[in-house]
Amino acid sequence: MALRRIAAACHSARAFASILKTPPMSLEQCRIIDLPKISDPRGNLTFIEGSRHVPFDIRRVYYLYDVPGGAERGGHAHKGLHQLIIAMSGSFDIVLDDGREKKRIHLCRSYHGLYVCPMIWREMDNFSSGSVCMVLASNLYDEEDYYRNYEDFVAALPAS
Ligand code: TYD
Repeated sequence: MALRRIAAACHSARAFASILKTPPMSLEQCRIIDLPKISDPRGNLTFIEGSRHVPFDIRRVYYLYDVPGGAERGGHAHKGLHQLIIAMSGSFDIVLDDGREKKRIHLCRSYHGLYVCPMIWREMDNFSSGSVCMVLASNLYDEEDYYRNYEDFVAALPAS
């Protein structure tokens, strides 16, 4: 049991170290984090422990639900916020854009969290009926942390 705990801690440490080694604020930093899944014939269980499974301290949780068919969410970037986005139920797509390249990611598993670092423009669409999107965030809500205009976001990116 202790060995399993040590192995899990090493896995998390390696995963977080690889995030820290990649260039800041780029799509390379955004990745799917495999969350623990306790399979059980009575129903599966996933848990998330701050600092262990998520590479930031969790200060806020919010969720999108009752999303009508064809709706689009997001359409902004955050200056300093780190997020982990999870399809708790159903599925949806997220398009991530660091100003240089874009990547479309389909989320459909409640044991997969998409880590999104600061300064990534995101758009969300293709929500399935009844889907629920939960977001763990590194800070409290602050409108000042948003870029809601794409040109402003691109202008704020460091020159490469
Ligand atoms: P927004 O972040 O634009 O939602 P999405 O990216 O999912 O499309 O937020 C929508 C509205 O909700 C906006 O008026 C701000 C408000 N809001 C809060 O008050 N607190 C929060 O934690 C969040 C995420 C949004």
